[in-house]
Amino acid sequence: MDAIDLSTIFLVVFSFILTIILYQNRSSKNTKLPPGSFGWPVIGETIEFLFSNPEDFVRDRMNKYSRDIFKTKIMGEKTVVICGPNGHKFLFSNEEKLFTVFRTHSMQRIFRSYQSKNPSLSHSQSQSTRVIRQPGFLKPESLARYLGEMDCITKELLRDKVEIKMYDFAKILTLTLASRFFLGSSERMVKLVDCFDDVALGLHAMILNVPGTAFYRANKAAVAIRRELIHVIKEKKDEISKGVKTQDVLCHMIVVKDNNGVSMGENEIADKIMGLLVAGYSTVATTITFLVKYVGERFDIYGKILNEQKEIAATKKEGELLEWEDMNKMKYSWNVICETMRLTPPLQGTFRQVLTDFTYAGYTIPKGWKVYWTTSSTNKNPLYFEEPQVFDPSRYEKCDGPIPYTYVPFGGGPRMCPGKEYARLAILTFLHNVVMKYKWELLLPNEKIVGDMMPTPQNGLPIRLHHHQNNFYIGAYQAAINNSDVPNLSQEDAVERDTLVYRSYIALSSYQLVINEIDASAPTPLQAVKLLALYLASPNNKILIKMHRSDYAEKQLRIMQQVDEDHTLTQLASAWLNLAVGGSKIQEAYLIYQDFSEKYQMTSLILNGKAVCCMHMGNFDEAETLLLEALNKDAKDPETLANLVVCSLHLGKPSTRYLNQLKLSNPEHTLVKRAASAEESFDRAVQTVA
Ligand code: HEM
Repeated sequence: MDAIDLSTIFLVVFSFILTIILYQNRSSKNTKLPPGSFGWPVIGETIEFLFSNPEDFVRDRMNKYSRDIFKTKIMGEKTVVICGPNGHKFLFSNEEKLFTVFRTHSMQRIFRSYQSKNPSLSHSQSQSTRVIRQPGFLKPESLARYLGEMDCITKELLRDKVEIKMYDFAKILTLTLASRFFLGSSERMVKLVDCFDDVALGLHAMILNVPGTAFYRANKAAVAIRRELIHVIKEKKDEISKGVKTQDVLCHMIVVKDNNGVSMGENEIADKIMGLLVAGYSTVATTITFLVKYVGERFDIYGKILNEQKEIAATKKEGELLEWEDMNKMKYSWNVICETMRLTPPLQGTFRQVLTDFTYAGYTIPKGWKVYWTTSSTNKNPLYFEEPQVFDPSRYEKCDGPIPYTYVPFGGGPRMCPGKEYARLAILTFLHNVVMKYKWELLLPNEKIVGDMMPTPQNGLPIRLHHHQNNFYIGAYQAAINNSDVPNLSQEDAVERDTLVYRSYIALSSYQLVINEIDASAPTPLQAVKLLALYLASPNNKILIKMHRSDYAEKQLRIMQQVDEDHTLTQLASAWLNLAVGGSKIQEAYLIYQDFSEKYQMTSLILNGKAVCCMHMGNFDEAETLLLEALNKDAKDPETLANLVVCSLHLGKPSTRYLNQLKLSNPEHTLVKRAASAEESFDRAVQTVA
């Protein structure tokens, strides 16, 4: 009996295994799977996918297996990566026919209401996207309504900034904008910026729910965000019950009902809002950060953006906010943003699930597998982008532009990013405001970029912002006047601008212009400037007051340093004081001027400051070179001429011509007066000797 049973069991098992092998053989004869490797058992190629450079991951396999498609196993799923413009086109044109959306398991777990309420994941996700696509929240009309507020928030956050970590700033800005837009308020969410970071990082993490892992942190962060969102939802429900009219996405989600008349639960709403905030926050923040980095490296591009933005601002009335039509005029600025997203895509790509077996490029992809499309297969491919590593916004100006489906930062087809227009407005609004107010320098020019799926500057991209009034401080008076046509300023800002413009005219000795233009109705600060012009215009009053009280100056400088040590004025004051004190301090003054000459345009003021330091240090040759450069910029500048006289005397070179020039252009200059009195004394002495 036992023997019969055993042989029967053996036969059954044997025939079962044989059937599977035969079936597999038969199916593999009919189907040709794409080339590639599933990598290690269980984890497949997930480690390489997540932790190597995404472009290298794709490029290496495209080179090794096929330029069109390769198979791999990532995030626990058999996956094909579909590559190149043809792959993108094929995928975007077959949505919901051959594929449907697939969120990675980590995403499903973090946004857990998808799982708990709807076993059919794709159904739940399309529902969430429907909410965002259908009621037109992200359509131009709604965005146009929000644009003014977007502009105000951006202006306010950019106010009086000097040194910032750009990535941190961009995250606060974009989270504030997104929360105001989706929830109608931002305070509670902005406090949770670190939690949003954790969630964003966890979306591509391996599912390892133990303390210390990215996935664990993301789950914890999601709990904190969900808790806060539930408060916001309750507050909003309260407002709705009191009849307060609100038009945000949250309000819509609360009141909307499905076909059976059932409303969404609070947890589900919280998860959907969290999804939208994460989608609308990290991508935009990354783009803004890298935009600042690339433009900070190319001031020719900065100049072109500034010109475009000034033209737009010139068409607006004082204090008027940005409008939809303005955004459409920002063509060059948008090209710069596009180029930023090509070099650093804020989102590498997304997954789909295969709904039915299909064939692509001669290979069969079985139902149930996952498909991954990624910008990495085209963005830096020299086949599609000439010199792909070069930052060149003019690529998008050429009449034919990039080859279709090679540049798809927002995806394409029916699943194209619904937040594309919102993102465009948010980034352009930021760019408009930042260039109209500041120039900037990157404090760590070679900062390392970390994070492969979500690229980030290692130290958060620290930058120093230089308000346009800097031109005045460093003595670039004509530039201060030329760059002053910043229209659309608030009244307060306009007075500040006018004050600096008129002071620049005074510095250029155009006293009469200032006296004529500032009338009795002008605000008090301008009246003060007019008084200065009147005072200086009267030759009798041109008395140079020099107190020789460096002890007072030192006290004043300490106060300035407490307020802002790095401010241009503080640095200049420090250099002047060092020069007055002399001795070992001269070297420090020289370093400040040296730093200025690397950061800013070379002005007579900087060149003279540097030259005076050189003379104090006995380096008259260098001083002469610097002073001749200053003379080339302004042949009548009294300080340059006076310093050249002194320098030439030390070098044993003729100085008479410089002195004569100084006499002609500035007869009241101290050096001219001193030379005249010395000549007189000399003549008297000669006469007594004679
Ligand atoms: C520079 C900024 C952004 C970039 C580069 C970007 C890119 C993308 C990409 C590539 C996709 C995937 C499309 C696909 O699967 O084929 C996507 C999806 C999505 N994006 Fe964006 N996005 C950005 C900003 C935003 C913003 C600001 C929002 C919300 C306001 C948003 C909301 C979404 C949503 C809800 C989806 C899922 C759509 C779906 O599954 O049908 N995105 N985005």
